[in-house]
Amino acid sequence: MKFLDGLYERASKLGKIIALAEGEDFRAAKAAEILTKKKICKVVLIGDERVILEKFPELDLEGVTFENPKTAANSDNYAKVLYELRKEKGMTLEAADKLIRTNAMFYGCVALKMGDIDGLVGGAVFSSADVSRAAFQVIKAKKGITSVSSCFVMVPPDDFKYSNAPAFIFSDCAVIPYPNPNQLSDIVSAAYLSAKNIVEVEPKIAMLSFSTKGSAKHESCDNVRAALDIVKELHPDYNVDGEMQLDAAIVESVGKQKAPDSTVAGQANVLVFPNLDAGNIGYKLAQRFGGCMAIGPIMQGLALPVNDLSRGCVAEDIVAVAAITALQSAN
Ligand SMILES: CC(C)(COP(=O)(O)OP(=O)(O)OC[C@H]1O[C@@H](n2cnc3c(N)ncnc32)[C@H](O)[C@@H]1OP(=O)(O)O)[C@@H](O)C(=O)NCCC(=O)NCCS
Repeated sequence: MKFLDGLYERASKLGKIIALAEGEDFRAAKAAEILTKKKICKVVLIGDERVILEKFPELDLEGVTFENPKTAANSDNYAKVLYELRKEKGMTLEAADKLIRTNAMFYGCVALKMGDIDGLVGGAVFSSADVSRAAFQVIKAKKGITSVSSCFVMVPPDDFKYSNAPAFIFSDCAVIPYPNPNQLSDIVSAAYLSAKNIVEVEPKIAMLSFSTKGSAKHESCDNVRAALDIVKELHPDYNVDGEMQLDAAIVESVGKQKAPDSTVAGQANVLVFPNLDAGNIGYKLAQRFGGCMAIGPIMQGLALPVNDLSRGCVAEDIVAVAAITALQSAN
């Protein structure tokens, strides 16, 4: 797939070190093999080297680094760092030490915070909530963003007839269940950067709803309109519009009819959903009915890159997310 090849080529020029939290899972170990062979990034597999090599003798893991949090030289120091970060929230040094040695997401997040790796990917085994919680507690949001969110990079099939965009950003599909206007505005800001940095397109952002420009009245549409006002105030340079229905956002003829004055309608390449029900269902519809490739969930708005996976992922999905993580670490 052209988009993925371009992504891998861009990532490989950066020489980043990406850790995979679930090193003892076959899919992560296989992804490490592919990433290393294709030189997309350098890989740290978090897990017990002996167990990994014994479990997967068919894999060639030459060039991959292994780190076992139970015995790693860094673990004592990482526990102290975690304790300092979380002591005001009631964490003891003993609890921090236990978390570092038994939870690869926390080990990886502290390694990232300390600059020992450039990015972290987990979620083949960990739940999305576990991945998010470790990232929120250790890495936190970047300056100017209060709420971290997520996006999917959606690569349309070759015969997609509504746009020639190489990929779309769908957001938020995995983190904030019912965003208030400020949170929705944070989602737009982060999705803008995801479109620029990951897809390398000039973002045209549609804030989606079941209403287009006041065609329906409901507090949910008011929420989207209030968020749009905040975005326009904060980022007068963004090409963003709403509230609008999906067809008005991506189908030129419908956009012209429903929102004739909009510079986004009919041409959107970033779709911001009003809540997580819509976002999560929406990306899965595009994936399953529409034949899009869905890469993610990619976390956006974090100070440093940590990314999640679907628990149903395959090694190739991890490869794609690791490449995106490398790109995020360069921005
Ligand atoms: C992500 C999620 C787990 C956070 O849950 P939570 O109960 O708010 O987590 P906690 O209360 O333990 O919060 C932990 C920390 O994260 C912070 N936090 C929570 N959500 C945040 C966000 N969106 N951005 C930044 N920080 C956030 C909290 O402020 C808290 O910080 P602190 O401990 O330093 O004060 C929750 O929003 C969630 O379950 N979302 C849905 C995820 C999901 O199931 N998705 C499935 C679809 S793939």
